[in-house]
Amino acid sequence: MEKKWWMDEIAYQIYPKSFNDSNNDGIGDIPGIIEKLDYLQDLGVTMLWICPVYDSPMDDNGYDISDYENIYPAFGTMDDMEHLLQETKKRNMKIIMDLVINHCSDEHRWFQEALKDKNSKYRQYFIFKEGKDGTPPTNWRSVFGGSVWQKVPDEDNMYYFHSFSKKQPDLNWENPEMRKELYQMINRWLDKGIAGFRVDAINFIKKDQRYQNGEPDGVDGLVACFDYCRNIPGINVFYDELRQETFQKHDCMTVSESVGTGYDIIDECIGDKGCFTMMFDFNYTNLDILDEDYFKPTNWTIKELRDKIYLSQTEIQKIGWSAPFLENHDQPRSINKLIKDPQYYELGAKTLATMFLMLRGTPFIYQGQELGIINFHRQSVDEFDDLNAHSQYHRAIEEGFTPEEALAFLNQRSRDNARTPMPWTKDQYGGFSKHEPWLAMTDGFEKYNAEDQISRHGSILEYYKKMIDIRKNRYHDTLSYGQFIPLILNDNIISYIREYNDERIAVLCNLTSQIQSYQLDNIDQIISNNIHDYTANQLQPYQALIILLK
Ligand code: NOJ
Repeated sequence: MEKKWWMDEIAYQIYPKSFNDSNNDGIGDIPGIIEKLDYLQDLGVTMLWICPVYDSPMDDNGYDISDYENIYPAFGTMDDMEHLLQETKKRNMKIIMDLVINHCSDEHRWFQEALKDKNSKYRQYFIFKEGKDGTPPTNWRSVFGGSVWQKVPDEDNMYYFHSFSKKQPDLNWENPEMRKELYQMINRWLDKGIAGFRVDAINFIKKDQRYQNGEPDGVDGLVACFDYCRNIPGINVFYDELRQETFQKHDCMTVSESVGTGYDIIDECIGDKGCFTMMFDFNYTNLDILDEDYFKPTNWTIKELRDKIYLSQTEIQKIGWSAPFLENHDQPRSINKLIKDPQYYELGAKTLATMFLMLRGTPFIYQGQELGIINFHRQSVDEFDDLNAHSQYHRAIEEGFTPEEALAFLNQRSRDNARTPMPWTKDQYGGFSKHEPWLAMTDGFEKYNAEDQISRHGSILEYYKKMIDIRKNRYHDTLSYGQFIPLILNDNIISYIREYNDERIAVLCNLTSQIQSYQLDNIDQIISNNIHDYTANQLQPYQALIILLK
C-alpha cells in the first residue's frame, strides 16, 4: 500500500467529560485536556481523538448534538478548542474530532422546526412515518432498547425514527439538501485545521426503504434493527458522495465505526474505493457477547480471539488500513474482558499492550488503558449513568434473569466502566477534580493512577511508553508498514509476524495462566520481554515477547 502520513500515527482517545476538570465543576473540559498535553506527549502518542464536544443536551453524553458548530458550555468555548489545536500543533500532535451525522439531538434547531411545522423543509431532514393500525410503522428495536419509532406529540398516528435513543432522531440521508448542509459543516471543521474525524455509527445512514416488520427476537416482540438500518445495500452511494464532497478535498484521515460490517463489504469503507482511510473492526472486540447484548455472554477461547485477530488483520490488509483498539468509551476495560485470571491483571495489561500495539494499522489507546484501569463493581443499577446500561438491565430482567444477574452483566459490560474519571493522583477524586465528579471513580484508583506510575519503575505506563517507542522509533518501518503474517505456534499463544523488506519481527503473547510451549528456531534477538526470565521455546503465564527473526 502507498505510504500515507496517518500510518505513522499512534492515536489516543479522550472522553472529555472524564479526562480532566480544570474548573472544578465535576465535569472534564477542553482546558483540562490542554493541561495534560505534556503527559500525552511524554507517553508518545501523536494524535488525539476527542469524543464529541459539540453543544448537546447530553442524553448520550454528547452523541446527541444540538449544534454542530458550537461547544458544549461545560466543556469550554470555541476559543478553547482553537487553543487546543494550537497547543497540540506546538507538540507535533494532531486532533481528530468525532463526527456524528447519522443522527442529531431532538433539541437541534432542524428537529425543532420539523416538529413545529409539518410543511417546513426540515420535516424532510428526518424520517417521519405514519403508524399502522395504532402501532408504530415497524417492529424494529432501537440500539438502546424500545421501538425505533417515537410518537410525535400532538399529531395523530405520526412517528419519527431513531436508531439510538428517542432523543437522537436519525437524519434523512435520502434528502440531498440535508446532506449538503452536513458537508458544509464538515468542511468548515476541516478548514479549522483538524486532521480528520472518527465517524460515528456511519453504517446506519441508509435504511431499508421497504420498512417491513421482521421476525421478533425478544420477549418485547421487537426485532433488532441492525438488519434493517445497518450496512444496507446502496449505502456506498452515500459514502462516495460524502468522501467526494468533504474528506477527499483535504488530506485528512477518517476512521469509521464499523460495528457489524462483514469483510465482504469492507471495500465500501476503506481502500482505494472506500470512503474512509481506516476502520475500527469490532469482530474481535465484541467476542465476549452476542448480538451486542450484555446479557448474552459467550464462552470465548484464546484460540477464537487469536483467529478473529488473524482474520481481521488479513482481510483488512487485502483492501486497506485498519485501526486496532482494545478499548473505547463503549467497551468495558480490556483487562476484565480479556484477562481471565485476576491475579495476572498487571502483567496481563502488558501482554495485551504488546499484542495490540504491534498489529498492522494505526493503534488507538483509550484513556486510562495505559494505566491498566479495571472495571468497577457497582452495588445498584441506580449508580449507572449510561442510558444503555439501564436499557440492558431491564431487558435482561424481561428475558428472565434475576436483578442480581442483570447487575452482574452491567458490572462486566457497561459502558460506564470506561467513562469513570481519569485517575491522575491517589487524592480524593483522583486529582481529576476537586468537586465530586459526574460519575464515581473506578475501584482501586489509589493504586492505579498516573502520578504513581510515572515514578514507578516497572509500571504499566512505563511499559506502554516502551512499546510505543519500539513501534514509533526503534522498529518504525517494519511495525508501521510491514505485512501482517499469522504465526501459528500453539492455540493458546497469540503470535504473528510483521515483515518489511528483509526485517521480520515476531510477537508472541501468552494470555493464559499456564506455561505454553512452542517451536521457533530462527531467533536473532529478543527485543522485548515483559518478565525477566526467558526460556527458549516456552512462554511463562502472560509472558509477551517481541523477537527479531533471522
Ligand atoms: C457510537 C458511539 O460510540 C456511542 O457512544 C453512541 O452512543 C452511539 N454511537 C450513538 O451515537
